[in-house]
Amino acid sequence: MTRRRQIYEGKAKILYEGPEPGTLIQYFKDDATAFNAQKKGTINGKGVLNNRISEHIFTLLGTIGVPTHFIRRLNMREQLIRQVEIIPIEVVVRNVAAGSIVKRLGIEEGTQLPRTIIEYYYKDDALGDPMVADEHIACFGWASQEEMHDIADMAIRVNDFMCGLFAGIGIRLVDFKLEFGRFFDNDYSRVILADEISPDGCRLWDMTTGEKLDKDRFRQDLGGEVEAYQEIARRLGLLPEGENMVLDLDKHRKSKGK
Ligand code: TMP
Repeated sequence: MTRRRQIYEGKAKILYEGPEPGTLIQYFKDDATAFNAQKKGTINGKGVLNNRISEHIFTLLGTIGVPTHFIRRLNMREQLIRQVEIIPIEVVVRNVAAGSIVKRLGIEEGTQLPRTIIEYYYKDDALGDPMVADEHIACFGWASQEEMHDIADMAIRVNDFMCGLFAGIGIRLVDFKLEFGRFFDNDYSRVILADEISPDGCRLWDMTTGEKLDKDRFRQDLGGEVEAYQEIARRLGLLPEGENMVLDLDKHRKSKGK
């Protein structure tokens, strides 16, 4: 038996060579980091939940015409994706003030923003992912003007769709982060949505209680991380009512050494 080739290991995911050229396998780990990996931990079962939640959201986005790298889920922790060249820009969409914008601009957490804000951060761990302007992106050639136009357009469509999706299950979509990649088709490339959409990269607050149901539970030492992620999966209809099926199954697999 030959071991499959690892292409890349990030903080929360591993990419392996896929079964066909142009595909990769995206594996979701339980590792959690915050503050540019200064804080590290494990959230047992997170990878299973994020795989499922991201599959669900990417599939729905596909149905409204947002192109994504997602092909299909393979098992509890893995999905088959299209290989892309990741554009080194983290795209953050904000509807409500929280996190870094609160610190940077002194706005009170929870303030509804009068309009949606899109921010760009240059993906570079050594630099701590600094915020950049369109001018930096154009000047240093990280993405073309046309690509940035498509990215901003898709970010707004994803936001509109996800605001509705989450409002329908009693959750306020505060902010989230997206990543995009170039998908090559012969001589042409087009930008598609890549990475993942899960409570790791979104802020999701219960609409009535204000409870945080996302990675801020880990960042702020609030506890109950896995329960929060599970609550999101449950409300999205991905877990049978009153059961922790995904996690129980995962434990079962681990105990059998699979
Ligand atoms: P921020 O308020 O810390 O700038 O984060 C904005 C959103 O982006 C929040 O939902 C968390 C997400 N995010 C990531 O997914 N990865 C990151 O490295 C950072 C800094 C934020």
